[in-house]
Amino acid sequence: MLSQAFQQRNTVERRALKDLCTMRVGGEANVITMHERDDLQIIHEDNFKMLGKGANLLIGDGPFDEYIVKLGEDFAQLQIETLPGQKARVCVGAAFDLATLIGKCVKAGLAGPEGLAGVPATVGGALYMNAGTRTCWMFDWVSRVEVLLPSEQKPRWLMRDEVPAVYRSCGLPPGTIFLQCEMELASGDPETLRQQASQLKQAKAASQPLAARSAGCIFKNPSKTLAAGKVVDDLGLKDTGIGAARVSEIHGNFIVNDGEASVADICALIQRIRKTAWQEREVVLDLEVQTWHCPAELHQHPKDIA
Ligand code: EPU
Repeated sequence: MLSQAFQQRNTVERRALKDLCTMRVGGEANVITMHERDDLQIIHEDNFKMLGKGANLLIGDGPFDEYIVKLGEDFAQLQIETLPGQKARVCVGAAFDLATLIGKCVKAGLAGPEGLAGVPATVGGALYMNAGTRTCWMFDWVSRVEVLLPSEQKPRWLMRDEVPAVYRSCGLPPGTIFLQCEMELASGDPETLRQQASQLKQAKAASQPLAARSAGCIFKNPSKTLAAGKVVDDLGLKDTGIGAARVSEIHGNFIVNDGEASVADICALIQRIRKTAWQEREVVLDLEVQTWHCPAELHQHPKDIA
C-alpha cells in the first residue's frame, strides 16, 4: 500500500488507461506520476508497470492490480555539455519527450537523433523499445544509460556495450526501468538537420495513418527484407476489420481504432492476420506492440491459433 507521505509527494489518480495511450483502449487503473527520485525504490516493493507516451501499447480491460507509473519532474531534465572536437554530451531523463529532444538537438546543431523524427515516445519508452525507423535506432547514439534492473534495489549506469539492444528491444530483462541516458553527438549544420527531420516526418505522414488512433506498427518486420506491412497488404487484408478495429487502408502494419473498438476486436483482428500470414505464406508475424492484460495467445506460434 502507498503511504500517505508518498501520496503527498507524488500524484496518484484513478484513470482510464484508454486516455493515456494512442490506441485508445484500456481499462481503469491507479496511475502514479512519480515526481521524486527517492521514491523509485517502492517500484520493487509492489507490482508496477511503467508508462511512457502509450504509443506502442495495447491495453486490455483489466482489472489492474498493478500501479501504472509515469515518471515526472525528477526524470525530465536535459543537459547539453560541449566537448572538445565539435562534439557534445547530451544527458536526458526518461520522462523527456523524444520529439522535444530531437528539436533541441537539431537547434543546437547536434547530429543523430533527427533520424528518429516522427517517432512518438518518451525517452524512456524509446530506450525500452529501442524505438526506431528502417535506418536507425535509439541505441545508435547512446553511450550509457541509468537503469533500475528488476533484480536490484538501486539504480546504476550501464555502458552501451552492456546493453544487448536489438531491433525493437533494449534486450534487458522485462521490468527494467530506464531513468536517463547519455549520448555523445557530433556537430552538424542545424538547417540540414532540420530538413532531414522534416523529410522523415513528411515520408511518415505520406505512408502511415498518423491521424488515426493506433499503436504504430503492430508487428515486427519478419526480416530486414520482408516488411510486415507488405505481407498484410499482399494478403489483401488492408481495410478489413472486426468490429470497429480495422487494418489501415494506408499501411498494412497499422490497426486503427475507428471509434469504439474493443480490445477484444483488436486482438481478434491481430490473430486473424497472424493465422492468415502463417497459413498462406508460412510467415510468422510477432507483435511489436507491448501488451498488458491481453490474451496470452497473441504471443503463441500462429500454427496454434484456432
Ligand atoms: N509496404 C507495402 N504495403 C503496405 C505497407 C508497406 O507494400 O501496406 C511496403 C512498402 O512499400 C515498403 C516496405 O513495405 O516497400 C516497407 O514499408 P515502410 O517503408 O512503410 O516501412 P515499414 O518496415 O513498414 C518501418 C518501421 C516503422 C517506421 C518505418 C519508417 C517496423 C515494424 N516499422 O516500417 O516503425 O516508421 O519503417 O522508417 O520496423 C513502429 O515501429 O511503430 C513504426 C511505425
